Amino acid sequence: MILRIIFGTALCSVSILFSISQAKIAPDYIHPCNDTSRECLVKATQDAIPEFVKGLPHLGIPPLDPFVIEKLSIPLSGLKFTFYQGKVSGFRKCIVDNIISELEKRHFTLEFHCNLTIKGQYDAVGKVLIFPINGEGDAKIRIQNLKMKLDINTKYIKDDKGINYFGIRNYKYTFNYGDRVMFDLTNLFKESKELSATVLNFLNENWKTVAEEFGKPIVDYAVDLALRTVEKFFLAVPYEELTNVPIPQ
Ligand SMILES: *[C@@H]1O[C@H](CO)[C@@H](O)[C@H](O)[C@H]1NC(C)=O
Ligand SMILES: *[C@@H]1O[C@H](CO)[C@@H](O)[C@H](O)[C@H]1NC(C)=O
Repeated sequence: MILRIIFGTALCSVSILFSISQAKIAPDYIHPCNDTSRECLVKATQDAIPEFVKGLPHLGIPPLDPFVIEKLSIPLSGLKFTFYQGKVSGFRKCIVDNIISELEKRHFTLEFHCNLTIKGQYDAVGKVLIFPINGEGDAKIRIQNLKMKLDINTKYIKDDKGINYFGIRNYKYTFNYGDRVMFDLTNLFKESKELSATVLNFLNENWKTVAEEFGKPIVDYAVDLALRTVEKFFLAVPYEELTNVPIPQ
């Protein structure tokens, strides 16, 4: 009887141990591909995005939609612009246009487009184009059909238990602002509502020039944050749970 209990307990703990070591870390919305075809990768990534952007708190992965920009100072010649308590939303609806995964070359390309909205507070002192600015207020920026291409050099990492993970070695990206950028900034001139409205109008009429002068630091910040989040995910979820294609030797 006692033997049976001991034996039963031992068996039970072995099976618990076994199921722990077998436990899947990847969330259910990850559907591993059996090959690196564009078709499968685009669909699997598109399916994962709306859930992935909610974050995975138990893995220390923060949400990406919305994601928060606590404070970002944009260094511009002649203008001191600081953005506070910003919230960037829209990533959940990004559309994946293309993916190329070259496992041997450790290279990954992702192309997508999205509508993004950035909301927060700002203050600005200096000049935008020809206008002297001295304002602080609410800022809302909408980017319609931002297009981006990410070029990522990957690596394979093995932990001390022999489990493989994807890593990001480095990346670069190209992008364009797409169809339109809309600015809504209140109170560009503390002294004059009329002048504020006139300049805002001007900024919107010249959205492309303004975005090109203003935008890069915000986009850099967003891409860096998004990729660091994706890397956290890669370092938490074993390679074998992300794809059924073995690591090339
Ligand atoms: C991969 O192959 C397995 C087994 O044949 C199949 O059940 C699964 O649906 C396939 N996955 C995809 C994404 O096609
Ligand atoms: C972005 O918004 C425009 C205009 O509302 C819409 O036509 C387009 O399909 C949207 N794009 C995405 C990627 O959601």
